[in-house]
Amino acid sequence: MAISEAVLDTLKRRAREAAAHAYAPYSGFAVGAAVLTDGGEIHSSTNVENASFGLSNCAERNAIFQAVAHGARKLAALAVYTPTPDATMPCGACRQVLAEFGADAIVVCCTDDGAREQRFALVELLPAAFGPASL
Ligand code: THU
Repeated sequence: MAISEAVLDTLKRRAREAAAHAYAPYSGFAVGAAVLTDGGEIHSSTNVENASFGLSNCAERNAIFQAVAHGARKLAALAVYTPTPDATMPCGACRQVLAEFGADAIVVCCTDDGAREQRFALVELLPAAFGPASL
């Protein structure tokens, strides 16, 4: 079923609010993410960096893991917010993690400028993905 614009607005707002809590002292690049579960719940998170740079986690994966840790197993949408001129695309690792729980999910990449918003089906961002159905 299609997700309403009102719900997507809420999802984007939650992603934007999460970005305010970014812990990104090394890159200075704040990201917020929010996921919508098939039950209509929203979980949000931000990127969390580490002095050992490789241990940093993206906002998207933190939000997905939080949803799963709260019992969700199917995700319908992911919003990614950055306070940048252009929308930010989820990295490859986050696309793979989303495929595990949201093969049919839509991905909304947004900024403060609504005209810059970009929307994709996950399958466009990660075609021919390896996933649970491959095992
Ligand atoms: N980052 C995300 O949180 N999500 C993305 O989609 C791209 C990158 C974070 C990781 C790191 O904290 C910072 O942005 C710079 O790469």
